[in-house]
Amino acid sequence: MEAHTGSVNLPETPVFRAKGQPGTEGLPAVVESPGRVPRHVAIIMDGNGRWAEQQGLPRLAGHREGVNAIPRVVDLLAQRGVQFLTVYAFSTENWSRPSTEVEGIIELLDETLRRETDHFNEKNVRVIHIGNAARLSNDIRLAVDRIQHETRNNTGIVLNVAFDYGGRQEILAAVRELIREGVSPDDITEEVFSRKLFTAHCPDPDLIIRTGGELRISNFLLWQSAYSEYYHTPVLWPDLDAQEVDRALADYSQRQRRFGNIVPDTGG
Ligand code: FPP
Repeated sequence: MEAHTGSVNLPETPVFRAKGQPGTEGLPAVVESPGRVPRHVAIIMDGNGRWAEQQGLPRLAGHREGVNAIPRVVDLLAQRGVQFLTVYAFSTENWSRPSTEVEGIIELLDETLRRETDHFNEKNVRVIHIGNAARLSNDIRLAVDRIQHETRNNTGIVLNVAFDYGGRQEILAAVRELIREGVSPDDITEEVFSRKLFTAHCPDPDLIIRTGGELRISNFLLWQSAYSEYYHTPVLWPDLDAQEVDRALADYSQRQRRFGNIVPDTGG
């Protein structure tokens, strides 16, 4: 079980594309969010360690507070009409952190998966893991499978939890799979390629938010972010509140998205 979405029974996996984006011909239409609300928001949740330091607490207390912020932000974005949210919870590079921190984050993941299922069902949130499952213990994989299964019929916002996720690794895995399947090079289009990514079930992110003041992409959704709008904030992830989220959404709504064209896109 390498790619977790491979084990998820998604109803349909059309490759979603924004209107006007290259390669949209013949693809199913996506549901446009009303006004200029992004359909898909992706967040690099940075600043847990600094939050803990500010409070004079150990780093893990910052991650715990970071986890607590997730349902709050999911609910908020769902209320604002966002249809997909991807959160970067643990990168392939995060394994190199001190083992106590890694173990602590994994324990938090386990705890969260067990604790939040009812909340997500109550709020009609569908949870999907994106990333590798190979390095996770059997117990955690079962917990991941369980939450995916138990939220599979929810029709509200889709929450993609990127755990052991790396953009370069995802691209390499897609290339390997296409080669293994013997797909002819001429048949490898953007759509064919996108279907091999963990995110084949959702449109590309319209808006990527990074908290914690850094200005890096950190191996996050490298292929999918080709035309994403970026929003950076110095606010640390555990402190992200409705005001700052609304500021990001308002900022996004003012952007002119041209997808490489000279005429602004009028869609979502
Ligand atoms: C960055 O903070 C945050 C991460 C390493 C990932 C975010 C992790 C969580 C919110 C907890 C785990 C998530 C789940 C779903 C269990 P940092 O430690 O890099 O902060 P710093 O830059 O201030 O040191």
